[in-house]
Amino acid sequence: MCGIVGYIGNQKAKEILINGLKSLEYRGYDSAGIATIENNKIDMVKEKGRVANLEASPEIGKLTGTIGIAHTRWATHGKPSKENSHPHMDNSNTFAVVHNGIIENYADLRKFLTDNGYSFISQTDTEVVPNLVHYYFSNDKSENTLNKFLTAVRKAVSDLKGSYALEIISSLFPDVIIVVRKDSPLVIGKGNGENFIASDIPAVLRYTKDFYLLDDNEFAVIYKDKINFYDSSLEPHNKEIKNIEWDASSAEKDGYEDYMLKEINEQPTAIRETIGSRFRLGEPCSFDDIDITKSYLESLNKIFIVACGTAMHAGLVGKAIIEKLCRIPTEVDIASEFRYRDPIIDEKTLCIFVSQSGETADTLAALRLSKSKGAKTLAVSNVIGSTITREADYTIYTHAGPEIAVASTKAYTSQVCLLAILGIYFAELLGSYPKVKLEELKSDILDLPSKIESVLDNTEKIKEFADKVYTQKDMFFLGRGTDYDVALEGSLKLKEISYIHSEAYAAGELKHGPIALIENGVTVIGIITNEKLVEKTISNLQEVITRGAKTFIITNQVLPNNNFSYCLNIPATNELISPILSVIPLQLLSYYISKNKGLDVDKPRNLAKSVTVE
Ligand code: AGP
Repeated sequence: MCGIVGYIGNQKAKEILINGLKSLEYRGYDSAGIATIENNKIDMVKEKGRVANLEASPEIGKLTGTIGIAHTRWATHGKPSKENSHPHMDNSNTFAVVHNGIIENYADLRKFLTDNGYSFISQTDTEVVPNLVHYYFSNDKSENTLNKFLTAVRKAVSDLKGSYALEIISSLFPDVIIVVRKDSPLVIGKGNGENFIASDIPAVLRYTKDFYLLDDNEFAVIYKDKINFYDSSLEPHNKEIKNIEWDASSAEKDGYEDYMLKEINEQPTAIRETIGSRFRLGEPCSFDDIDITKSYLESLNKIFIVACGTAMHAGLVGKAIIEKLCRIPTEVDIASEFRYRDPIIDEKTLCIFVSQSGETADTLAALRLSKSKGAKTLAVSNVIGSTITREADYTIYTHAGPEIAVASTKAYTSQVCLLAILGIYFAELLGSYPKVKLEELKSDILDLPSKIESVLDNTEKIKEFADKVYTQKDMFFLGRGTDYDVALEGSLKLKEISYIHSEAYAAGELKHGPIALIENGVTVIGIITNEKLVEKTISNLQEVITRGAKTFIITNQVLPNNNFSYCLNIPATNELISPILSVIPLQLLSYYISKNKGLDVDKPRNLAKSVTVE
């Protein structure tokens, strides 16, 4: 939540900061602000609402400096308003700060500062930070040196409890930006005579491909032509630079109306890249990045898959795959529940954490809990160097490319694909599933990109259906087995971008209560891809048709004559990986319903892409 950008160099900072903020808007978009330094003075402009409002602000012209920090906000403390938007300054206007995260003890710090004569303009937790820096700086009676500034920042930060990625500038030191992070992401892009800071790599990918990934409790002092790194005691150290191979255009809309539509259409490539060189037909799967052995797998009594939202839905499919291929009991849990329910974990448990961003606060906390109980941890993530990947014992990456739209699409299908490959890898090590069947499954995985393309060829048909149902108030999604897992994902997608209330049910569960909600004209979406369950699911759908429901069926089966309102055929594949195909019509359906309603598809209300707070 919240996106931060920084620039120091010879160009006007404003344009670069606004470009960066625009690509970070997925992290929050209720207000935005920029501070630059010119002639030893900090100039600041803030506006409520989207970055476009900031860009259009009549005051924006006053930002002429070549050093600056910027922020797009997702409100936690204090309502969205100009006063509460970042940057925040200390009372003397000497220090300006932008912050992503939450300062949990801000009330105590605010009281301490108030008792020491400081006053506050905003209701935010962040405003304590510049004032604390000022407090420590002004109480140090030594000469004003950069070291004194850095020491004041370190002292201020050591008072903070919670999570933070901070950028700090000072009118007394117009040639540097100081940054530090703990449990919130921050990267530094190295340019030629200029440097960039951002919450994520895509925000500044158009300017550089060389990045430093700041560690927790690490400080950096960033000049235009050098960057100095320090540990938590301010001991200097060298840091390895990473070259990022992503193409800058992968973080742009590339002619599509919205990122979500672009990302839906990128799924054939995302799956191809995720498969990569992990297997070939006739050869065992290989994961160079993990050294899990047969004896370790044999020692396991349980696997946990822990995640949030869409990533958790991918985990549900992962459970079906691992249990079927490996016969290891696998439990899926929502990270925010798992972390507080005293789960039974020991060294015989493997805990898998699925997270597109690798920054989700609850998933990270669940990972830390699992490690503390002796379990091995494995991250499935899309973002190289993200916090979860750095803390897990093992990491395997989906190679979906940057996912910008708040609603996750290509990350979900890539996660399911990678969990399937992981399941095959485990099964090959264990010898737990017939080799010939594993080869068939591999062949089905290799066919996925072209099959996704043929599902995408049906876009017009799905759009027509969306045109008919976009005024509905409620919708239901039904399925059995992995079709139920997809129903959950389809229902979440619809809720988050179209604001239509929807429920997903295991089809057989309907008559135990929710069928009371079915009345004339209600839309029910049925997913049928498991040959063994066709008749069962059809019977459940007949029950809703009898009660007046309109049904939209997504299937890869030959269905008997029926009275469904619409039926969309998708290519056949192994039922374990069919969610990768059956979810696509549901993604498109939500997308076109949202468009019909005139909503902002990429930035739905109240949501942010990276949920870095509890
Ligand atoms: C997906 O459409 C959602 N916006 C959300 O549920 C998301 O999947 C969840 O917040 C988890 O994010 P992560 O994968 O980055 O951990």
